[in-house]
Amino acid sequence: MKQYHQIKTYLLAFVLGLSAIPLVGQELPVPDGLWYKNAIIYNLEVGTFKDSDGDGIGDFQGLIQKLGYLDSLGVDVLWLAPFTPSPGHDDGYDVTDHYTINPKYGTMDDFRQLIAETKKRNIRVISDVVLNHTSDEHPWFEAARRDSQSRYRKWYVWAEELPDDADKGMVFPGVQQATWSYDSVAGLYYFHRFYRFQPDLNYTNPEVQQEAFNILRFWLQQGMDGYRLDAVPFIIDIPETSSENPERMMHLVPTMRNVMRDTKHDALMLGEANLSPEENKDYFGEKNDGMQMMFNFYVNQFLFYALATEDLRLFTKAIEDTKEKPKTAQWAHFLRNHDEIDLDRLGRRRRQQVFAKFGPDTSMQLYERGIRRRLAPMLGDSAQLRMVYSLLYAMPGTPVIRYGEEIGMGDDLSLKERLAVRTPMQWSAAPHGGFTSGDSAFRSVIDKGPYGYQQRNVMQQLSDSASLLNHIKRLIRVRKACPEIGFGDFEIIRSSSKYIFAVRYEHDGKSLLTIHNFSATPQEFRLTGVRLADQPLMDLISGQPVGTKGGRLRLAGYGYSWCRLE
Ligand code: NOJ
Repeated sequence: MKQYHQIKTYLLAFVLGLSAIPLVGQELPVPDGLWYKNAIIYNLEVGTFKDSDGDGIGDFQGLIQKLGYLDSLGVDVLWLAPFTPSPGHDDGYDVTDHYTINPKYGTMDDFRQLIAETKKRNIRVISDVVLNHTSDEHPWFEAARRDSQSRYRKWYVWAEELPDDADKGMVFPGVQQATWSYDSVAGLYYFHRFYRFQPDLNYTNPEVQQEAFNILRFWLQQGMDGYRLDAVPFIIDIPETSSENPERMMHLVPTMRNVMRDTKHDALMLGEANLSPEENKDYFGEKNDGMQMMFNFYVNQFLFYALATEDLRLFTKAIEDTKEKPKTAQWAHFLRNHDEIDLDRLGRRRRQQVFAKFGPDTSMQLYERGIRRRLAPMLGDSAQLRMVYSLLYAMPGTPVIRYGEEIGMGDDLSLKERLAVRTPMQWSAAPHGGFTSGDSAFRSVIDKGPYGYQQRNVMQQLSDSASLLNHIKRLIRVRKACPEIGFGDFEIIRSSSKYIFAVRYEHDGKSLLTIHNFSATPQEFRLTGVRLADQPLMDLISGQPVGTKGGRLRLAGYGYSWCRLE
């Protein structure tokens, strides 16, 4: 049996183009282990998705009720935001107990039921795991500050004097004052990369490392399929070496990955780390021993620049710059997530151009570097919005969407910071958008203007074949029929129009071409190496032939096409 399994593994690894990995005497990942390379990931917060008991807060039972919907959308993986106990000052990213469910969302039994129900539908579940810091109300921190002899004192990072660089390295500038704050109980300063109520754990302490490994094991043993590892660079940094450019314990990444692999052989480690392409390489690791998947924040910001200016050059370069990675590694691409769009790498002038187009009001901007809006209100319910969703599914990596994006949900700028993009899901035109049957929702459902639940909801869009929801369903269906994107190699194809982004994928003898027009104006263009006389192109999304004229291809303003090449 084992032998058969190995042969199967080697054959599949070969087919998938992993022949560069030595095949003899080495444990290879089973083919199943690559499931994340061609999956559709859907991110949600249990609390804002669906309330089952009318208390106004979403819960696990509500999520279970909606699995049929997620399945019909084509979702393969649910990514759950933190659901463990928390005072909720950072929406659950301030954890007080890593080993159970926040009672407002349900019980461990509800969680187990979710896992059982998702398994029936072949949906995997991953969750955020927040290991960098705890809440300052966590019993570990309570013990640490109260008692200098407590073993927990050394679980956090302390200083007797305020370090010189206490005003450097803040993640939330403008809101956060410092990275070191005074604790009057301990009589010491403690380090916190994020808000002051999130003291950083001290990973130079082996006890803390062991505890993190236990947490990683725990949820995998409860049926979880992997994690979105929150704030990876800040887990592995050594704050005493500098707040801005700290030394890093890189070896912790493969160690954590090993712990996960030993517990569940194909568990996914998806890293949250906004890095340069060079730094990313270290996180992926060279021997399939690092992160299998990382969010491509780098491409994301240049994509927004391209959408704002119709100038594709930096976006194209960012795709090229992040091309090189181990065969088993994968990028997670996204348009919006639960945080602000971080435009830090654009530099001031280019960032201002994106602000001017997509977030002109200062209430739309956050942390001096980003935009706290949902995608639909930024782009309008327009051809550009549909084009960029097509692009998301056509990018070299695994697409991640956030709940509500599929219906073009809006934002609520009256809410604090990033809560603007975390309003409850809009299911129907019933009160509170069908999110809760109770008298009120813990966070108001958007109920005004074009993004109000009365006109923008799942029920309404399901019945409209031209809706955004049906567009996204179609894109997901086509994407799933094109494994070239998740598993194949790609090449950016030169176009005679500077507004066209064209990519050719090759995999298993098949070839796929995806083309996207970033301009509002129709384009006629040639693609280097694609001769029209040889092959009439059919668009897989519309089922219609791709427009041609005089030996050139044609795309409407913000048009797009996916076609198989012979
Ligand atoms: C990154 C998460 O995406 C963000 O929402 C959170 O506030 C910080 N990590 C702190 O945990």
